[in-house]
Amino acid sequence: MYRLLIFFSLVTFIFSSGCYYDSEEDLYPAANCSTDAVSFANDIQPIINNSCIVCHSTVANLGNITLEGHTAVLKYANDGTFLGSVKHLSGYSAMPQGSSKINDCSIAKIESWINAGSPNN
Ligand code: HEC
Repeated sequence: MYRLLIFFSLVTFIFSSGCYYDSEEDLYPAANCSTDAVSFANDIQPIINNSCIVCHSTVANLGNITLEGHTAVLKYANDGTFLGSVKHLSGYSAMPQGSSKINDCSIAKIESWINAGSPNN
């Protein structure tokens, strides 16, 4: 009887744990992730505004780095630190500082935008 109870508690535990922290975007980054014709205004700046602007607005300017507007971002797109930092590549400061990586789809969009020549579109 006790064994049966323990067995059922275990089964209940296994089925009820596990899914809480799973988000669809982390589990299936490729699904619904379009990296065609990535736009600076509609894709890249919003990603920055969500995850980076608290520290890298013109006013905050942490690390003397501003990511507000195309001209400002272009500098770090060109020198490789924008992509290196969001991908947590060695040799770059991992960004966002103190947090986990931004989602794979956002990183893929940034990479695609840089590969397209970082247009102001
Ligand atoms: C909590 C504050 C904070 C957030 C959020 C943050 N950064 Fe930073 N970032 C810093 C500081 C401080 C530095 C300078 C010190 C350093 O390089 O670690 C820095 C440095 C950088 C650098 C220069 C890296 C290098 O290797 O030279 C880049 C590029 C950068 N950040 C981009 C970003 C991007 C893109 C995001 C959002 C995905 C972001 N940061 C989010 C604080 C932040």
